[in-house]
Amino acid sequence: MEIRKMNVVVVLVLTSIGVIQANTFHFPDNFSFGVATAAYQIEGGWNKSGKGENIWDRITHKRPEWVKDGKNADIACDSYHLWKIDVQLLKQLGVDFYRFSLSWSRILPTGFSEYINWNGVRYYSDFIDELLANDIRPVVTLYHWDLPQPLQDLGGWPNLLIASYFEDYAKVAFQLFGDRVKTWITINEPNEICDTGYGTGAAAPGIEESGTLDYLCGKTVLIAHAKAYHLYDKYYRNKQKGEIGITIVSRWNEPKTNSTRDKEAAERTMQMQFGWWAHPIFSTKGDYPLVMKERIRNMSQCQNLEESRLPKFTTNEIEYIKGSSDFMGLNHYSTWLITDDSENNCTIVSYENDMGMKNVQDPSWIPSAASWLKDVPWGFRKLLQWIKVEYDNPLIHITENGFADVGELHDTGRIHYHRGYLNELLNAIHLDGCKIKSYALWSLMDNMEWQDGYTLKFGLYYVNFSDPLRTRTPKSSANFYKELIRLRRIPRDTPQLIVI
Ligand SMILES: *[C@@H]1O[C@H](CO)[C@@H](O)[C@H](O)[C@H]1NC(C)=O
Ligand SMILES: *[C@@H]1O[C@H](CO)[C@@H](O)[C@H](O)[C@H]1NC(C)=O
Ligand SMILES: *[C@@H]1O[C@H](CO)[C@@H](O)[C@H](O)[C@H]1NC(C)=O
Ligand SMILES: *[C@@H]1O[C@H](CO)[C@@H](O)[C@H](O)[C@H]1NC(C)=O
Ligand SMILES: *[C@@H]1O[C@H](CO)[C@@H](O)[C@H](O)[C@H]1NC(C)=O
Ligand SMILES: *[C@@H]1O[C@H](CO)[C@@H](O)[C@H](O)[C@H]1NC(C)=O
Repeated sequence: MEIRKMNVVVVLVLTSIGVIQANTFHFPDNFSFGVATAAYQIEGGWNKSGKGENIWDRITHKRPEWVKDGKNADIACDSYHLWKIDVQLLKQLGVDFYRFSLSWSRILPTGFSEYINWNGVRYYSDFIDELLANDIRPVVTLYHWDLPQPLQDLGGWPNLLIASYFEDYAKVAFQLFGDRVKTWITINEPNEICDTGYGTGAAAPGIEESGTLDYLCGKTVLIAHAKAYHLYDKYYRNKQKGEIGITIVSRWNEPKTNSTRDKEAAERTMQMQFGWWAHPIFSTKGDYPLVMKERIRNMSQCQNLEESRLPKFTTNEIEYIKGSSDFMGLNHYSTWLITDDSENNCTIVSYENDMGMKNVQDPSWIPSAASWLKDVPWGFRKLLQWIKVEYDNPLIHITENGFADVGELHDTGRIHYHRGYLNELLNAIHLDGCKIKSYALWSLMDNMEWQDGYTLKFGLYYVNFSDPLRTRTPKSSANFYKELIRLRRIPRDTPQLIVI
């Protein structure tokens, strides 16, 4: 109690003198810094040296109008050729690790493990060696949204068989790279894979079957993750001595008013967006959150369905998934205000309708170039506090956090955002006792932002996409982050733009 009171005082004092500049907490010695990217967004070389087609290649080629600027990632940042330059950028920043993803179809062009593309293997193997030679730890995501097209032709993630093919792919990756890769992330943001890929259709493969296929997808993704985890745990961990976990994205959902209904709706939204994935893995009970099961069952009943649209787990599956992560990978960007809408029209089948809420953002919040991304640092701390209570203070790696603009070199909006969010992260560590081990800033450089094409930029480095050489130039934020890593605290000054 005494300590809690003191913390409140500290926060107030810091706030009154401008908490953002004045946070004197340091990042602990065992805390590490990195930056993150994903294969499809940076590599290019979409059909080079035997790579197979994936669902993002397919949709951007077949439906260019579906991407905001009609563009694709056939070349993107051309990291397939410029990877040595990328390592130099990482070296300049002074990061401890680099989080990147493997392209499944570069390694297994058909999606199946019978045929390995050794050119693709060599690319990643050389890249990992180059990172290690420069003292940068590889943190590797196995799946960052780029399903091989032949597996989509079998129905994609809603087909439970995909879980076994994912396990086969994971085995190839552990065998080939596990001697050097000590942190594995199985799957990035299942909510986006399932809700956006098979529900709203705003991500590849662009299927709009919300309230059904998204839930089938979810079951496969959770089982796929658990299969890869158990495979590693059983056959590779002893020898390779690494860690393996999943990365879940979460907004903070704040009740818009203090009414019981809005508070319940905000909690239900946390459970149905984040808990959908976290509860089966990180809670002591396992399985989906109770409120999610109840809510979808009720809506399904109202729709005269005999069974819930949310596919059940068997008792064995619940046990198999529970605890299947050495850490919680957490991606976080922004905050929403939630109002209750649980008495909505139950004849409408959708995940959104199942959640029974409406979400808005406060017009006074600092905007970014992305409509959904506002600079709301306090939401980050509230999310971390909620996770601490809900899942008994798990070990967390922040695997993404970033800000969108349209490409300014003197990117003060990005610096402001990271100052605020890292300040709250320090408070969460030092005042709330959250066990946060690392932070990966999204992203190393501007890249192909999925359905938004090249209209949004998240990079510390500017990439000239009209230049065949894809020249990379550090923005002010690169200097800011470099200084932060060097000092192991938040720098007081915003660096001037230094273009070399
Ligand atoms: C790769 O794709 C490009 C278009 O992006 C095309 O011009 C080229 O012929 C393709 N190469 C192979 C080997 O299929
Ligand atoms: C809800 O109540 C808390 C505590 O009394 C208060 O700090 C907060 O501002 C209230 N929120 C709203 C939206 O009214
Ligand atoms: C589901 O319906 C039951 C019976 O009407 C009700 O008691 C319960 O609160 C509902 N659950 C949710 C989460 O809406
Ligand atoms: C509910 O939605 C259906 C369409 O899905 C519509 O026909 C019906 O009129 C709506 N009911 C109400 C009460 O709005
Ligand atoms: C980091 O080290 C401190 C001091 O030894 C320890 O209390 C803390 O648990 C460690 N944090 C993590 C996330 O391992
Ligand atoms: C980008 O590259 C093109 C082609 O090399 C060049 O003309 C242009 O000046 C560059 N733009 C910037 C902002 O550096």
